[in-house]
Amino acid sequence: MKIAVVGTGYVGLVTGTCFSETGNEVTCIDIDQAKVDSLKKGKITIYEPGLEPIFDRNRKDGRLKFTTDLAEGIKEAEVIFLALPTPPGEDGSADLKYILGVADQIGKVLDHYAVIVDKSTVPVGTAEKVHAKIAANAKVEFDVVSNPEFLREGVAVEDFMKPDRVVVGTSSDRAKAIMERLYAPLVRQGNPIIFMDERSAEMTKYAANSFLAMKITFMNEMANLCELAGANVDNVRKGIGTDSRIGKRFLFPGIGYGGSCFPKDVQALGKTAQEFNYDFKILKSIMLVNEKQKVKLIPQVKEYFNGDLKGKTIALWGLAFKPYTDDIREAPSLYNIKALKRAGAKVVVFDPEAMNNVKKEVGKKVKYASNMYEALEGADALMIMTEWPEFRTPDFSKMKDKLKNKVIFDGRNLYDLHEIKAQGFEYYSIGRET
Ligand code: UGA
Repeated sequence: MKIAVVGTGYVGLVTGTCFSETGNEVTCIDIDQAKVDSLKKGKITIYEPGLEPIFDRNRKDGRLKFTTDLAEGIKEAEVIFLALPTPPGEDGSADLKYILGVADQIGKVLDHYAVIVDKSTVPVGTAEKVHAKIAANAKVEFDVVSNPEFLREGVAVEDFMKPDRVVVGTSSDRAKAIMERLYAPLVRQGNPIIFMDERSAEMTKYAANSFLAMKITFMNEMANLCELAGANVDNVRKGIGTDSRIGKRFLFPGIGYGGSCFPKDVQALGKTAQEFNYDFKILKSIMLVNEKQKVKLIPQVKEYFNGDLKGKTIALWGLAFKPYTDDIREAPSLYNIKALKRAGAKVVVFDPEAMNNVKKEVGKKVKYASNMYEALEGADALMIMTEWPEFRTPDFSKMKDKLKNKVIFDGRNLYDLHEIKAQGFEYYSIGRET
């Protein structure tokens, strides 16, 4: 099939590349000339494990092309994906200006039947708005479909190629048949394509992300309570996760969820509820708890240093909002850096992938170490912000040589309590005894 993807950010590039891998002819369209030039030359613009070899192969085979010209890009495309940003507006609702802007242009140039697909996370009613925008100028028939993505950063290729499910919201049989054909290679193992109406599909995406954010937040609150009550949240997690009704995944407590999706989507769903005069209380709690949880370790760090962090150097391991990404959007590390600086501490940081992004955001306010051990050189304490695998089994003697105080504040529960104590560290983690 011939398909077009408008917007070559994270979702767009993964979508375009993966659909070229299943044999489609894909054109990715973006207004950013520098980005398109770079992609044309074979230089991938995002960090996503496993994407580059697929990108290289399909680009070289001519199945994956790039352009800044929308009219040229959508020529003869049976399916046109919209993978455009929907940043939160001032009031927290998703801003649709990019999507509606492109819909307007598509209406003006479309010269054949096509299925236009909302891939971005968009609020209920967006498919109707996109339809109206295109219809205002279109001279041909078209359908607008909602097909939300459920990709996790870091494992997006796997999530795309082997989805648990594909959700397609459409009321058109013609569009349904086309979407079924497009996704057939990805659901061969029997995972379902769930067809529904457009509004339900749009709501499904927000429900999924908000439910997962709620699951994590519930465990974060359980962890806080376990600390007070002398229980160990690891045991509680295993004890409840083995109940198949609850499930083992997304029960790991820590210093809050971050990233570009959960915080934005919980907020936007809250906004939707407000628009329909529904008081969605759980959503408000999720947001409140998560804000606090991000800086949960700071009071403990302060207390360790008798309330005074002035002149103390704190080393931070991990900056990305989670491992296997360089993404620092809404990352707990940024909130901790801010809190530590406000308290007068010096901060030295290390992350395997996210250092450049932090340099752009934080600049010279912190020191950048070239590896995880260098960060500890003369530091007064270590804080762990991201569970990168290389932090899990470190050289503890090397750490002890470099750190002034043998103390670790671990926001990701990386170490076994007995082992870390046997190594001679004072250890603070989440929801376990200190
Ligand atoms: C999330 C969803 O998982 C995807 O299905 C969705 O497509 C995507 O948002 C999106 O809307 O685009 P992502 O933001 O990449 O994906 O990251 P997750 O792996 O879901 O992690 C989100 C946050 O939750 C991270 O900060 C992570 O550290 C935290 N988390 C996750 C926990 O604190 N505990 C857990 O047990 C799991």
